[in-house]
Amino acid sequence: MGSLTFKTVQPIMGKASHMKNTQMLIVDPQEPDLEGIRVAAKLIVQGGLVAFPTETVYGLGANALNPDAVLGLFKAKKRPLDNPPIVHVENIQDVYKLAEYVPAKAEKLMRKFWPGPLTLIFQHSQMVPKVTVAGLDTVAIRMPKHNVALALIRESGCPIAAPSGNIAGRPSPTSAKHVFEDLNGRIDAILDSGPTRIGVESTVLDMTVDPPVVLRPGGTPFETLKKMFDVRLHPFVVAEKVLSLSEVRSPGMRHKHYAPNADVIVVEGAIPAVVTKVRELADSYRQKGAKVGILATDETQTAYETDVVKSLGSRFNMDLVAKNLFSFLRELDAAGVNVIIAEGLSTEGLGLAVMNRLRKASGYNIIKAG
Ligand code: TXA
Ligand code: MG
Repeated sequence: MGSLTFKTVQPIMGKASHMKNTQMLIVDPQEPDLEGIRVAAKLIVQGGLVAFPTETVYGLGANALNPDAVLGLFKAKKRPLDNPPIVHVENIQDVYKLAEYVPAKAEKLMRKFWPGPLTLIFQHSQMVPKVTVAGLDTVAIRMPKHNVALALIRESGCPIAAPSGNIAGRPSPTSAKHVFEDLNGRIDAILDSGPTRIGVESTVLDMTVDPPVVLRPGGTPFETLKKMFDVRLHPFVVAEKVLSLSEVRSPGMRHKHYAPNADVIVVEGAIPAVVTKVRELADSYRQKGAKVGILATDETQTAYETDVVKSLGSRFNMDLVAKNLFSFLRELDAAGVNVIIAEGLSTEGLGLAVMNRLRKASGYNIIKAG
């Protein structure tokens, strides 16, 4: 294919003077057509904001070395200024420019897992602007495994700072449509290469401590990292409640995350007890006049009768569940439900990332069944 179309999308509402015309650039993920990528790269070089696909979720990119562009990034997605984005590179040599020091263990991980859904935290060099790291002395770096993302970074000729391409606090975008919903009129362009493969963000691993510590579970499972050497989980990763500020190591840990408009409740425990509890809760919310959505699994979905029931996939296929999670949260919002009741799932493999996102989306409104 290699097809490419340009379409300038007008905001649906009357256009305010500060609004941008967000260009949609459709690019084949298998054989990216350089024409569209060059349009996007030119925007990045000029200090603009471009959303692009990665293997995890869509990111919103800006030149990581241009402080004004990065500031624009924070503004566009209404992100608190104390929560730095991840800096994306397309070759390992750039890490040595951006990081003050690269530990041997990090080199091992980069060789094994890059490009891929693993973000590493290093002490940063002088080269990195303050705003890009939100004033911290560390920087988060990753090399995404996506032809379009890699080509965009290469053509731009600079590392690209990119948080997920959603309005802060909302579920991360796993398609260009999700980015458009949140950021149309606020950014310069969206590179659309279809839905993302993994569906949850990268694993964030702090390499400034030994043993390294997972600050955010994600696309590279904890079990896989553990096979390399001793790696720990930050207590926040498995938390079932809000931790105190002194326990927080990653700025992202402090902020509201992944939340749809509806209230989210997570019901955890053994399956039969979970099903009974979910049914009970759904009935009681409906009696109070709420429209209820249930996030179920293939094994349980027929047990429910309520306003909207969606199966994330089989409980034994957490890869598929991860891929569906954010888009289903958005779909439940679109269906107008007031309450989303989600079943607790396994924390193995990508399950740890899924449960971390669900618990955070619920604001730790977790009910133990049985
Ligand atoms: O898969 C991903 O990681 C996606 C795609 C677009 O690459 N990006 C992403 O970025 O999820 P964002 O900004 O939504 O999440 C970055 C996370 C936040 O939790 C942030 O607090 C953390 O990384 N982070 C960034 N810099 C950090 C640092 N220096 N120390 C500790 N945590 C950091
Ligand atoms: Mg995010």
